Amino acid sequence: MKSYHLTTFGCQMNEHDSERMKGMLESLGYGEAGSREEADLILFNTCSIRESADSRLVGHLGEAKRLKGEDPSRVVGVGGCWSQSMKERVFQQFPFVDVAFGPGQVHRLAEFLTSDSLTAQGFFEFEGFTGHLPMKRTREFQGWVQISVGCNCACAYCIVPSTRGREVSRPADELVAEVARLAADGVREVTLLGQNVNSYGRDLPKGQKVTFAELLAMVDAVEGIERVRYTSPHPKDMREAVIRAHAELPSVCEHIHLPLQSGSSRVLKAMRRTYDRGRYMDRVQMIREIVPDCAITTDIIVGFPGETEAEFDETLEVVEEVRYDSAFTFVFSPRRGTTAADLADPIPHSVKRPRMERLVEAVQRIAAERSQRFVGRSMEVLVEGPSRTDPARLRGRIRHNKTVNFAPDAARPAKPGELVEVEIVSATSTTLAGEELISTVA
Ligand code: 5AD
Ligand code: SF4
Repeated sequence: MKSYHLTTFGCQMNEHDSERMKGMLESLGYGEAGSREEADLILFNTCSIRESADSRLVGHLGEAKRLKGEDPSRVVGVGGCWSQSMKERVFQQFPFVDVAFGPGQVHRLAEFLTSDSLTAQGFFEFEGFTGHLPMKRTREFQGWVQISVGCNCACAYCIVPSTRGREVSRPADELVAEVARLAADGVREVTLLGQNVNSYGRDLPKGQKVTFAELLAMVDAVEGIERVRYTSPHPKDMREAVIRAHAELPSVCEHIHLPLQSGSSRVLKAMRRTYDRGRYMDRVQMIREIVPDCAITTDIIVGFPGETEAEFDETLEVVEEVRYDSAFTFVFSPRRGTTAADLADPIPHSVKRPRMERLVEAVQRIAAERSQRFVGRSMEVLVEGPSRTDPARLRGRIRHNKTVNFAPDAARPAKPGELVEVEIVSATSTTLAGEELISTVA
């Protein structure tokens, strides 16, 4: 039997594409190898969101080159966003690569592997959903569902529209059928994936149009699905009906990831985000009114070209006003082919670094304060497995997406995939600690 080794970089969309790649390879008779040395096929599913993602990959490719040198019959394949953004240049810069393909061409990998082709090949059309391929799920009780691919936004910093193409939604009935299959297979939590989930359905043909809020209701109605999450929405398309779904649909979790990027309306405009600080704060206020206990998380970019000290302070103000449960913070990184890469007035590292430090301080301080609201409460936890630090304890997540480590009920320890009630006894910015309440297993 031939074997493969796959390394995945990047976001949940990529992790899910990798589940499809694995499913497809296993249907071709490939088995998963424990290491690259043992593999006949060395694969990478790549990301290109920031420069750091590129440099990490190049290190790994060095190892693939060495292994290919040792055994030239090995096949080296590179898929995903970095591959797409490099296209044919992959083969010039990395001549040991046999096959390269973009996120829309995963199915072509099978074609390449089953042909007798000896020459390097690249596949970079935007055509396919990995959603139609077989899948090998990483997590037993949690599943990803790709509701759309691509993105019609034109955010000045972002490479994704060029790596994943125009937005294409999958028909709702197909998605509901997929969720039902996952539920029948034991999945209790699904995460709906799209580059801009709340513009879902606008491109569907007349008669098949379904809004994102309607899709949430259809997924909520699937028997056996206890929790529904999604990522990421765009603040410009965040409608009241979607926010209401968090309050009204039992399985839609009390967590909204609402990427801010900057708190300055001037910078948002330069980023081409098409909302301003006021509109963003409106959405936050609506969330707070309709779903008072909702966790709100975000993404923030520091040091976009031209960002002044006063504009950065506006980002800090929004962070203090919103009080995020957590935030991913990024230093701006110019990406090939994006408009921001050519903007004048790049911010030097010596300015970006202290801004980042101030931002991280605020984010962590507020996250730690926000976490305290769970202490003393009994929270529903979906058990994921043993705690990473103490095997006598269990680990899981609350609906607000915070990780909890807890002491199990000694008489009947809960199993992964079960929902239990845990009393929270302490909290840090990132994790909660607690004790399972006796016989709560659902
Ligand atoms: N530089 C820094 N951060 C970026 N992101 C996207 N593109 C860039 C870039 N060029 C961040 C955004 C986005 C998250 C996934 O990555 O904050 O929401
Ligand atoms: Fe995901 Fe974006 Fe990275 Fe592509 S570039 S893998 S869409 S984070």
